[in-house]
Order: sequence, then C-alpha cells, then structure tokens
Amino acid sequence: MSRRAILVTGASSGIGLAITRHLAGQGHRVYAGARKPDDLAALAEIANVQPLRLDVRSADEVQAAVELITAQGQGLYGLVNNAGVGELGPLLGWSDAQLQRLFDINVYGPHRMTNAFMPLLLASRGRIVNIGSQGGSITSKYFGPYTMTKHALEAYTQALQLELAPHGVAVSIVQPGGVATRVGENAQGATQAHFEQTPEPLRAEALQVLAAMSKPAPPRSDEPESATNRKLSDPAIVCTAVQEALFSDRPSLRYMVGTEWEGNRVLHALLDKLLDANDGSSLHYPRERLIALLDEHLAARHSPAGDLRE
Ligand SMILES: NC(=O)c1ccc[n+]([C@@H]2O[C@H](COP(=O)([O-])OP(=O)(O)OC[C@H]3O[C@@H](n4cnc5c(N)ncnc54)[C@H](OP(=O)(O)O)[C@@H]3O)[C@@H](O)[C@H]2O)c1
Repeated sequence: MSRRAILVTGASSGIGLAITRHLAGQGHRVYAGARKPDDLAALAEIANVQPLRLDVRSADEVQAAVELITAQGQGLYGLVNNAGVGELGPLLGWSDAQLQRLFDINVYGPHRMTNAFMPLLLASRGRIVNIGSQGGSITSKYFGPYTMTKHALEAYTQALQLELAPHGVAVSIVQPGGVATRVGENAQGATQAHFEQTPEPLRAEALQVLAAMSKPAPPRSDEPESATNRKLSDPAIVCTAVQEALFSDRPSLRYMVGTEWEGNRVLHALLDKLLDANDGSSLHYPRERLIALLDEHLAARHSPAGDLRE
C-alpha cells in the first residue's frame, strides 16, 4: 500500500487518537488536528504524525491548515472528520446558541473541512470519512440534540457521496455504537448544565436522571448487554472501518460497528421506520409483499451493478 497523506480532526483523544496511531503506524503521513498545546506536543512525539492546531469551528484555523498542507507538496488523500462532542440533555431548555454550537462542531465542522480541502481531495481522487454514530439512525430520551447532529451528518454524507462519486472522491460514514473513550466525561460539564437548565414539566425528572448519572452502576461483565448494562467496544473497531473506507477498492457508504445488541437495536429502530412508512403511505403492503420487497432489494444490492437507487 502506498503511503498517503491523511488529516484526522479531533486527534487529541479517544477515537481520533486511535485512528491517528493506527494510520501513522502503517507509515501514512497523518496530519492530526488538536486544540490544546499539551495535546499538540504529545501528537508530535508519534512517528509520521504532524500535529495541526485545528478547531473545526474556526475558518481561520481551517484555512491555515489548508495552506500548510498545500505548502508541503504531498497533497491530501484522506480527510477523517472525527471531531465531535457528545453533550446530552432533555431537548426542552436548550437555547438556540447551545444547539448552534453543537451543530457547529458536529455538522458544520465536517462541512467546513470538506469545502476547504476539496481542491486537494479532487486532485488526489481521495476519500472523506465522517465519524457518525448509531445515533444517526436512532434516538432516545436525552440524546435529542446529539442525535440530531448525527442524523444531519448521515444526510450530509449521503448527498456528498452522490455528488462527488462522478468526480472520483468517495465519501463514507462510520457509525459506532458505544466506544470506550472519555466522550461522556469530556462533555460532562455541559451535560450537567443542560440537565440543570431543564424547565417544567420535565425538570424533576431531569434532576433525578442527573443524580443517577453521577452514580453510574458498575458494568456487570457476566450479564448480557442491555440498555442498563452496556458493553463498550474498543476504538480499534472504528479504526478497522476507517481503514476500509480509506483504502478499499469499493468503499461502502456506511460502516456500522459495535456489538450484536447494538446492531439489533438499530435494525429494530429502522424496521419501525419502515413499518411506519408502509402504514402512513398509500401502499399498505401486506406482510408477504414486504418480505418480497426485502428479497428484491437484497438481490439488487448483490447484483454486479450494485445498488443504484438515489
Ligand atoms: N465514544 C463513543 O461512544 C462514540 C460513539 C459514536 C460516535 N462517536 C463519535 O466519535 C467521535 C470521537 O469521539 P470520542 O468518543 O473519541 O470522544 P473524545 O475522546 O471526547 O474526542 C473528541 C475529540 O473531538 C475534539 N473536538 C471537540 N470539539 C472540537 C472542535 N471544536 N474542534 C476540533 N476538535 C474538537 C476533541 O478535542 P479536545 O480534546 O480539544 O476537546 C477530541 O479530540 C465524535 O464525533 C463522536 O461523536 C463516539
């Protein structure tokens, strides 16, 4: 495999750091975006890594990154839009500014990076990999704002894929379930503030949930996974999917990664949407027609022409 230049945003910790180490370990030149001086210094210690000061909300820092990478002359093959924040809280009470901030990082960040690096990515016929979430397909109480951003990233990725495929740039989204990182701790202060600002009629419930969150039950490794006993995955599973999206001959649009319990949860949520669409439309297909539709769809996906729906 040839050595490529790849930019990873949010490389200071968790999944972004794991992807950075993984790609740099293969000899690729990794531009690793981070914000804090200590993180930039630590990234500089990793062979094949060049740290970049990069807050994805800052058009100036994004532009400076474009100029630096362009000046180095190797171009850019891969853009991994990983930076993101996982703030939680009941929807009621979020201000416009708080929602805008979350979207500014999780959605406009990838868009800002993509626009800025498009000339380099077109020149290299490169790849864009967005780190989404299973929360881009499902949602639940208190995950509203975060999953709104990840749903938006799904639509963004798919539309971008359709637009750029004829120009030789492939676009994918990786959809992890729960991954063992400090994403919750890193957003803890903001999450606490969101719960505390919850207005009536949800206030009492929000404060109860917040109190329970501050004393999480220890994981029960001998019991099966459930909503109250989650099994977090290693960031390595995200690295494997990113690797595939960056380097496979036919990258997929979506890479869902996580546990079997999580996969079942997503499938059931999507089946609910399918059944709602069937019930709410003029179709009202009976069970047999729905099963036949699934069979036709599977056959089309596995045909040599692939799945060409838009
Ligand atoms: N962990 C999970 O369970 C999970 C599941 C599904 C999806 N994800 C997604 O995976 C991605 C990485 O999350 P993680 O779990 O690795 O969490 P993490 O350890 O908290 O890492 C988040 C990264 O994003 C960076 N970041 C935050 N705001 C930024 C900004 N304005 N500009 C540039 N960088 C910024 C952080 O940098 P600082 O250190 O400077 O704050 C950090 O490097 C996120 O997009 C997240 O939504 C995570």
